[in-house]
Amino acid sequence: MKNFLSKISSPIEADIQLFQNEMVHSLESSVGLINRVVRYLIHKKGKQLRPRLTLLSARLCGEPVELTYKAAALVEILHVATLIHDDVVDDADTRRGIPTIKRIWKNKIAILVGDFMFSRALTNIIQLRDFEALDIMSSVSSRLSEGEILQIEKAIKKDMSEEIYLKMISDKTASLFSAACVLGAITVTDDNEKRDAIRNFGEKFGIAFQIKDDLFDILGTLDSVGKPTGFDVKKNMLTLPLIHMFKQLETGDRKDIQRKLKRHARRKELKEIKHLIDEFNGIEYSVAKMEEISNEARAHLNIFPETPVKASLIKILDYNIKRHF
Ligand code: IPE
Ligand code: IPE
Ligand code: MG
Ligand code: MG
Repeated sequence: MKNFLSKISSPIEADIQLFQNEMVHSLESSVGLINRVVRYLIHKKGKQLRPRLTLLSARLCGEPVELTYKAAALVEILHVATLIHDDVVDDADTRRGIPTIKRIWKNKIAILVGDFMFSRALTNIIQLRDFEALDIMSSVSSRLSEGEILQIEKAIKKDMSEEIYLKMISDKTASLFSAACVLGAITVTDDNEKRDAIRNFGEKFGIAFQIKDDLFDILGTLDSVGKPTGFDVKKNMLTLPLIHMFKQLETGDRKDIQRKLKRHARRKELKEIKHLIDEFNGIEYSVAKMEEISNEARAHLNIFPETPVKASLIKILDYNIKRHF
């Protein structure tokens, strides 16, 4: 899978180093504790998918400039900030195969360092000197938090429909993917048709990406995915396979399963729930949805000529469908 990702990144190999330098530079501080946490974060990188999208989008629409790297850095910084906060919210102890910030430094530091990173993302966006970029930044910030809060609201009320689920993941995940893409384009072109196309590509891809991530919670293991699975973290959260199953169940049966999930069900009960999901084709249904939305993403690239960069963006869709972490 790592190989797959480096293949996709071959048109932006040199750009990635420049983005990484920019990211380190953007997070420098005079406070020792911040630097220690940041060093820990930078050491274990993750897939860096969003900045790759920024760089590929810029290359799709033109030639990257210094601001492109600032945009790529701010996108990854914003992403990592939301992960640090998300691990507090989800009470998760492992991320990228190592202990989370909240596990090591506790919640207070996790919240504050997340906020610090958010402030540095703002610093970078201002440097773009572009009102559309500011508009994107404010919209993505508000959608990220609305999505996370909507998820909690629905988990408590347990009345998630597929429609609301799709809106929720658009907000909490696809908003940043689409911003990653369009910010890359903004740094190199004024062409609104191109900017819109790549924005829509990112939005659809982000939705497909989160559907896949939610599948790990049911199908993955901590070792393979590098973060908790087995309805563990998402025990109260309603994901697409569950929603698809619930919509076919009688109210009584649904309540029973929801209770089991909520009280951190025993191994045997979890197995039973997985069997039920299978019986109602919950996984197949979600995979089909992910593929359908990936195809919609691909169609948004139709306006661009066939180049290696475009081929990479198309391959990313496939990478997501096949990835194991
Ligand atoms: C995890 O994102 C959070 C989701 C939106 C599903 P990634 O899977 O991109 O996380 P890293 O950065 O590679 O660890
Ligand atoms: C990740 O969401 C955070 C955001 C998308 C804002 P999840 O809680 O669904 O993802 P993981 O599984 O912890 O990475
Ligand atoms: Mg989480
Ligand atoms: Mg979460």
